[in-house]
Amino acid sequence: MTRLSNNFCIILASILVVSLACQNALAQVLDITEHGAVANGETDCSNALLAAFKEACASPTPSTILIPKGDFYVSQVILNGPCKSTIGIDLQGNLVAPTNPTNPDPKTDWFNIRKVDGLNVFGGGSMNGQGKTAWDKKLAGEKLNLMAMFSLAFVTNVDIRDVTFTQAKNTHVHFYGCKNVTFTKVTIDAPAESPNTDGIKMGVSSDIKILDSNLMSGDDCVAILHGTERLTVVNTKCGPGHGISVGSMGNTPDEKDISGIHIRNCTFIGTDNGVRIKTWQDKYAAIANDIRFEDIIMEDVINPIIIDQEYCPAANCGGKAPSKVKISKVAFNNIRGSSKTENAVKLICSQLEPCSDVEISDINLTFNGGKSISSCANVKPILGGVQIPQICGAPLGGKI
Ligand SMILES: *[C@@H]1O[C@H](CO)[C@@H](O)[C@H](O)[C@H]1NC(C)=O
Ligand SMILES: *[C@@H]1O[C@H](CO)[C@@H](O)[C@H](O)[C@H]1NC(C)=O
Ligand SMILES: *[C@@H]1O[C@H](CO)[C@@H](O)[C@H](O)[C@H]1NC(C)=O
Repeated sequence: MTRLSNNFCIILASILVVSLACQNALAQVLDITEHGAVANGETDCSNALLAAFKEACASPTPSTILIPKGDFYVSQVILNGPCKSTIGIDLQGNLVAPTNPTNPDPKTDWFNIRKVDGLNVFGGGSMNGQGKTAWDKKLAGEKLNLMAMFSLAFVTNVDIRDVTFTQAKNTHVHFYGCKNVTFTKVTIDAPAESPNTDGIKMGVSSDIKILDSNLMSGDDCVAILHGTERLTVVNTKCGPGHGISVGSMGNTPDEKDISGIHIRNCTFIGTDNGVRIKTWQDKYAAIANDIRFEDIIMEDVINPIIIDQEYCPAANCGGKAPSKVKISKVAFNNIRGSSKTENAVKLICSQLEPCSDVEISDINLTFNGGKSISSCANVKPILGGVQIPQICGAPLGGKI
């Protein structure tokens, strides 16, 4: 080839690459305002979202649904996969739910994504459940069947980062049947007095990470239900709320195991519980195994460390028959700070299925700047390092 034609080829190739890139960029971003959405907080944008999703879902290359800045009212939406490629949701603005406690389809959640493989949600925006009306009714004793706000079912390879879920009527984020789900720098924001507003709640899902997040709610910051495997929560703040809860377990037959739960470097501020494992009295058998809580700071937490196998919120749990749930291989390591009650460590295990292989080391939980106590049943923990309070009557500084 001559030098000239060589150069010519390079130029041609460059143009081709640039134009392909442009074409991709154009095809990839689907702005909901170009599908009928209006950022006035009133126009129902559900159909616009659905239309953008359908186009994205049919695309053989990855697409991103753009929700630009502004308030977009959404009555309810169900985005069903499977899709031909991965889906991005660039949430720069706010998606706003109705104030009405009942969804148009009352049997399902508000913002639903199902059966998608490869989902990225990002953009710094928020989903707002406008829960106040629902909370007020509930607190006034009205029976409401409230659904979750953002819900994933059978979605795999999910990355959710830098978004806020606020004021849900019920659970903020719920997922089920999911694999490989990561939350990074996610904010949950609901007041302490909002009933049942769990932060992130999951079941029958595996390989989950919650990183660098701030979870403020009226119920559990993280609720870990049966069938959760390999969950890591790191560098995350919890509070207000009810803490991080494994369970409740044993409420229904054939619950799948909970295992591989690792909570590390988290801070609990003013929560009802810190790290908790709870199982129903009586009822059904289940297994919780391999659960580690470490490097945790508690600030004014009512029950900083608690295993409660006598959970009975309904006041009718088989006449105090012991729980059939087996808890084993649990570690509480390096947990420090202040307890709001004197009894800072409660390890109440089942008479039928005593907890086994429970390790407790380096605990320093003070009550009013002074001594705290512990209570134990059906557990013989392996102790190490500092223990304030004394754990299960063991002397201070007991060793493994
Ligand atoms: C998990 O999901 C993320 C986000 O889709 C993806 O980038 C990553 O490769 C997945 N990891 C595995 C092990 O499949
Ligand atoms: C622990 O988490 C906090 C955020 O809550 C973070 O600032 C800090 O760097 C983390 N420490 C380690 C050792 O990862
Ligand atoms: C336990 O914590 C208190 C309050 O933070 C502190 O004054 C005390 O030195 C700690 N004790 C040990 C043994 O670490």
